[in-house]
Amino acid sequence: MTVIEIENLRKTYKSRTAVDGISLTVDRGEIFGIAGTNGAGKTTLVECASGLRHRDSGVLRVLGMDPQTDRRALQQRIGVQLQESALPDALKVDEAFRLYASLYDDPVDWRVLMDEWGLTERRRARFGSLSGGWKQRLFIALALVGGPEVVFLDELTTGLDPAARRTTWDLIRKLRDRGLTVVLVTHFMDEAEALCDRVSIVDNGRIIATGSPADLIRQARTDSLDSAYLALTGKDLS
Ligand SMILES: Nc1ncnc2c1ncn2[C@@H]1O[C@H](COP(=O)(O)OP(=O)(O)OP(=O)(O)O)[C@@H](O)[C@H]1O
Ligand SMILES: [Mg+2]
Repeated sequence: MTVIEIENLRKTYKSRTAVDGISLTVDRGEIFGIAGTNGAGKTTLVECASGLRHRDSGVLRVLGMDPQTDRRALQQRIGVQLQESALPDALKVDEAFRLYASLYDDPVDWRVLMDEWGLTERRRARFGSLSGGWKQRLFIALALVGGPEVVFLDELTTGLDPAARRTTWDLIRKLRDRGLTVVLVTHFMDEAEALCDRVSIVDNGRIIATGSPADLIRQARTDSLDSAYLALTGKDLS
């Protein structure tokens, strides 16, 4: 079953076209990766799909809803971790969970989430005192407070140390095992290979390849795919 449908999506900021005619579909229960270098348009794509930014044109359906016109209803069924999220420095971890829970009609038990994400010990810590990695972990957990069917995670493991990265990967796999659909934005092909069922590689606002990580490596080579792959892996395909 398709949970996300994007057809010919476009978004331009003044003179800069960030998303230049992207089409893709994501099935229920998939971990779908969006990989690409800085400025490729990944965050803009996720912001449009989650109703945080208005598109210029194209068709967008998430769980059968248009993120722009059905925003309120959609927010109750999706979770979003943004690349540049922030909370007030003085807010404590458990207060952040409580705050997020108040935004949803039917939130999950956030104490269970806090525990699962290893945050219970830090529940009285202020947001401003957390290291970058712990902030990141908190934001992922907060994206799950509403009990979403679809989660958008933008730059999941940027800034995490290798052990925290692997822990996070395991937690993401658990989300899929529970039937959630995960859209994962990443700069790292190793992360996409470890986690994603399918990946789209975005370059300059366009998708240059979509497939399973193994398919991408096998796919007919093009110059743009070769250079994007090199930028994402440090490895030359040819
Ligand atoms: N609010 C904005 N106003 C103007 N231009 C923007 C804005 N947000 C993004 N852009 C431009 O749109 C393009 C795509 O940006 P976007 O943030 O979607 O890329 P990205 O793939 O998420 O990059 P990164 O990997 O660095 O996070 C870039 O050229 C960026 O400079
Ligand atoms: Mg981004």
